[in-house]
Amino acid sequence: MIVLASRNGRIGLQAAMQAMTNGGSAVDAVEAGTRVVERNPEDPTVGLGGLPNILGEVRLDAAIMDGRSLRGGAVGSVRRHVHAITLARHLMERGPHVFVVGDGAERLAAEVGLSEEEPLTERAAAAWRRRLLERFPDLDLDRLAQRDDLLRLVDDLQLSMAGWEEMKREAGPGSTTHGTVNFLAQDGDGNVASAVSTSGWAWGYPGRLGDSPVLGCGSYADSRWGAAASTGTGEVVLRMSTARSILLYLKTGMKLDAAVREAMADLRALDDPLVEHIAVIALDRGGEHVGYAYRPDERYVYMTDAMSRPAEAQMPAPG
Ligand code: GLY
Repeated sequence: MIVLASRNGRIGLQAAMQAMTNGGSAVDAVEAGTRVVERNPEDPTVGLGGLPNILGEVRLDAAIMDGRSLRGGAVGSVRRHVHAITLARHLMERGPHVFVVGDGAERLAAEVGLSEEEPLTERAAAAWRRRLLERFPDLDLDRLAQRDDLLRLVDDLQLSMAGWEEMKREAGPGSTTHGTVNFLAQDGDGNVASAVSTSGWAWGYPGRLGDSPVLGCGSYADSRWGAAASTGTGEVVLRMSTARSILLYLKTGMKLDAAVREAMADLRALDDPLVEHIAVIALDRGGEHVGYAYRPDERYVYMTDAMSRPAEAQMPAPG
């Protein structure tokens, strides 16, 4: 049994492994690990504590996939729940739909009995206010005290895609304005699963969705071949279906290492600087795992049932 995660998933690895040693499946493991990260207010890229969009709202996206049945569930733009991954799992298990966003996702959460919880922390709200003031220095800070007032102010500013572009540029690469958590696991029966959860691109344009909730792009799991997932700026991964590409390359007979590098090389065809943010982790059906990243100094974490604590592995550039 093995579980691997993006570096910020370290705090959830033990819970994920525990889920499997307690008799749970790979799906149980990836959900359990992801929930720990979603609950961590110190992570500005996932769940509670995630940074908000330009309107000051935290909108959460998540996807989960069971490699045994090839069933999947994905939710996008979830507003009032911290554990988007659990909502995605409910969707996967209920079917027939696979992807539900916005008001529909909120409605589903109520139907399945998830309690509402505001993911926006005071710290994240303060960061957003600071950011807004950097962009619009003439804003009256006192008026920002009331949330309704604040949203009206944003409307008054007639915030446009161009205005948002400017904030995005200021944030710069390597900042915490885009991040995600990935979990991949293989259980004692050899089945694999994937889970991804994110608060998306901080200060993002309203309604923007990245790769994370899109199965085949930000994650995919198929027990016949393996599982893969990505972090970074999803705009490029969305255009190359990176996770499913990796599994298709495995299907053609490539080794895991070559399959991941090939899918990441595909991203280069986009000739888009956002590729520099992308990191990918992957697992094959033999339990081999790799990670590659275009961003420097990246690592992923993993743990097998023979290990008492998680280990870190380097994520070199794919070349
Ligand atoms: N990979 C997360 C996002 O682009 O939203």
